[in-house]
Amino acid sequence: MKANTVGMMNELRIAAPIGVFDSGIGGLSVLKQVRRLLPAESLIYVADTGHLPYGSKHPDYVIQRSLAISRFLVEQGVKAIVVACNTATAAAIAELRRQFALPVIGVEPGLKPGTDLSRGGTIGVLATAGTLGSKKFRRLVSAHGQQYRVIVQPCHGWVELVESGALDGSAARERVASLVTPLLQQGADTLVLGCTHYPFLEPLIRELAGPDVAIVDTGPAIARELQRRLAVSGLLRDGRGRASAYFWASGEQLPSERQMARLWQAGCQWQRLPDGVQ
Ligand code: DGL
Repeated sequence: MKANTVGMMNELRIAAPIGVFDSGIGGLSVLKQVRRLLPAESLIYVADTGHLPYGSKHPDYVIQRSLAISRFLVEQGVKAIVVACNTATAAAIAELRRQFALPVIGVEPGLKPGTDLSRGGTIGVLATAGTLGSKKFRRLVSAHGQQYRVIVQPCHGWVELVESGALDGSAARERVASLVTPLLQQGADTLVLGCTHYPFLEPLIRELAGPDVAIVDTGPAIARELQRRLAVSGLLRDGRGRASAYFWASGEQLPSERQMARLWQAGCQWQRLPDGVQ
């Protein structure tokens, strides 16, 4: 092949978008960090709102949904996939990496950074039942949590709070307090946000925890890891210009302008996923 043809093909590969997905709009907490660090990268975001929440579903179901969405993203020509969901990462990342020959970046609860921040040695991990019950999480605790007291807290209902836009107000405050207060009473000095929906509840968690408790959100680390993986694969698109972002969802009702104004930015368009991916 001629050198200029190879050069053009490389440019096309570099210009390809990055695919990001979650069970819902929680993964926007990761997407925001990707946009902040890599503003020139085009983005395609998929919210699997028709099948939410993942946290209470069987891992096989989450694997099947993750494969269907990833196939769709690959058909859209993405150069990398970010699984912006701890639950889907725990269930499906090994299978995704087996089936797709492109960088697949996942998220896991930030226990390791939590151990670096903890002064008293008690760390509370807030996540879905699916994440906390996974083999991957057990391995994470045995790799990094042995010298620490790790208290896990499945946060039923938090995903739904974020999806419904209830980020403050008395219902959200009560629901968050009922699960965070017991961790604080048990002496947790570090709280790990092990679900990508929870950073949107961080103001409420901070209000309860006060200034001395460390709160770990892995979003910025995921964006850095994506940058590193793209760079080593020769796929990083540098630059400052703000690239396009497309949003797809599987649920009947698409996320509203009002929700998006708080979680991402106003004025973005959502489309319904094609039937085969519903
Ligand atoms: N954002 C997903 C996570 O990080 C939420 C999972 C769910 O839908 O229950 O785990």
